[in-house]
Amino acid sequence: MGSGTHRPACLVTGVAGFVGSHLAERLLALDYPVVGVDNFCSGFEKNIKHLKNHPGFCFHERSVTEKGLLEDLTRLQPGLRICFHLAAIVSVPYSVEHPEETMEVNYHATVRLLEEAGSNGLAAFVFAGSAAEYGDDPRLPLSEEFASHATHHLSPYGRAKFLASKAVAATPIGASLRCFNIFGPRQDPGSPYSGVISKFIDMALNGQPLTIFGDGLQTRDFIYVADIVEAYLLVAGLVPGKGRPPSGVYNVGTGRSISVLDLAEAVLEVTHRPKALNFLPERPGDIRHSVASIAALNHVGDWIPRVSLHEGLERTVKWMREDG
Ligand code: UD1
Repeated sequence: MGSGTHRPACLVTGVAGFVGSHLAERLLALDYPVVGVDNFCSGFEKNIKHLKNHPGFCFHERSVTEKGLLEDLTRLQPGLRICFHLAAIVSVPYSVEHPEETMEVNYHATVRLLEEAGSNGLAAFVFAGSAAEYGDDPRLPLSEEFASHATHHLSPYGRAKFLASKAVAATPIGASLRCFNIFGPRQDPGSPYSGVISKFIDMALNGQPLTIFGDGLQTRDFIYVADIVEAYLLVAGLVPGKGRPPSGVYNVGTGRSISVLDLAEAVLEVTHRPKALNFLPERPGDIRHSVASIAALNHVGDWIPRVSLHEGLERTVKWMREDG
């Protein structure tokens, strides 16, 4: 795939989001034409501003809940062969308040797109799954087969992502990437539910104490966005010299975890700020520990994360100082 001058075109839904914009940027750098879709429900125009004048980029402000969306787009872009489906309701608390809408957007719309991908002859359909598919499973590291219909999902978000991942993985063209805690430039620190790294850096740069929910000894597996993007390319079959791995669900994390307290220390070090922490009550529904087994993706595609937490923090801090 991707040989000669006629590289397959790629659809990226959720292109104005944090991960979607990085994926589109990388695909364009590799000369793959990109059709981007976003309805700006959680994405931002500023994330794709720099792509808008790229000759390989074409943007449609549309919703993934529209029936016939993929059919329309393949008519407009006949070389469309790959779908990266990242558009979703991303807020877990919102999903708790709006379970039906979450099921419609994160599950039913995914199944419709998947069916349209199959009937329009697409070669690969890659879905953005989530560590939330494991609920609060205490068996660590979390291995792909642990998530099942019996899993106690903590939110409609987790349940819908699990059902959609299953549906995607069951098709000959499908792969779902169960992403752990992603961080990097363009992650929005603005909402109370933003990723902890973007919030910590924002607080540190503004001279505020970092807020620690609970004792800070809870752990997470933080993975830098560029490593996630490489995993997307791999499962779509776009890494030269490597075939498309078998359909399935693959964890994407680092296989290592760090406590929130140690993370706070690391952020203060990278931002050169004195230690100032503000301990607040534990967040309701917080899971205690989370770390991925990354053996499966490593086995099928030799995938390993390349960017260390420290390097990722440096890059994110640089971006937040300059553009964030
Ligand atoms: C992440 C996902 C969420 C998913 C869940 C599944 C993100 C942004 N969220 O939630 O969509 O459902 O994994 O496992 O990736 N914390 C603080 N202080 C803060 C902010 C956070 O101490 O100011 C703590 C939280 O209590 C939590 C940890 O940091 O223990 C990580 O929080 P967060 O980045 O929100 O991610 P998850 O809760 O792991």
